[in-house]
Amino acid sequence: MRVVILGSGRGSNAEAILLAQQAGKLGRARVVQIFSDKPDAGILALGPRFGVPASFLDAAPYKTKLDGAGEQHYIAAIEACRADLIVLAGFMRVLKMPFLAHFEGRIINLHPSLLPSFPGLDGIGQAFRRGVKIAGCTVHQVTLEVDGGPILDQAAVRVEDGDTLESLAQKIHAAEHALLPAVIARLSERGA
Ligand code: GAR
Repeated sequence: MRVVILGSGRGSNAEAILLAQQAGKLGRARVVQIFSDKPDAGILALGPRFGVPASFLDAAPYKTKLDGAGEQHYIAAIEACRADLIVLAGFMRVLKMPFLAHFEGRIINLHPSLLPSFPGLDGIGQAFRRGVKIAGCTVHQVTLEVDGGPILDQAAVRVEDGDTLESLAQKIHAAEHALLPAVIARLSERGA
């Protein structure tokens, strides 16, 4: 299963996927490409470290969605990778048609809350401020509804009395780093 990772940030989840792959724990999945819409994103430094092509892919002209020329650019580049699965690991843009139709059923997203609670931006901050006692993360299929596609798996973390936004974020990220590679491995074994 050929996996393309899209990310905009530091890439700790992409790193977790690549470490799982190195450890032989990614099932039949293999990361073939990393793309980032930010030229200076930390995620791009993983390429040389893990021997995976990693490049900036311009998503202009929009800032928060993948549309117009940028969208066509992404469709062509991902198509050229012959991707079986597209993993959004901190890719901070809203996807829409025709991208979604083009890769229907092959796009998954990681979100730092227990959906359907706290969709959208800053899922961790939303949960922390709301005072929930169980927080967590979700991997789901991507559909037109932002953070609303079918849920593939979730991991919960307990919010303790002494937790700060920072300590909660750390716990959620640790849960993400286990959850996302496990879901990818499971999808890769589907029908095997
Ligand atoms: C992760 O916490 C992920 O859940 C979140 O961005 C972070 C990326 O971290 N994604 C979203 O908020 C999507 N709406 P990383 O770059 O270290 O993997």
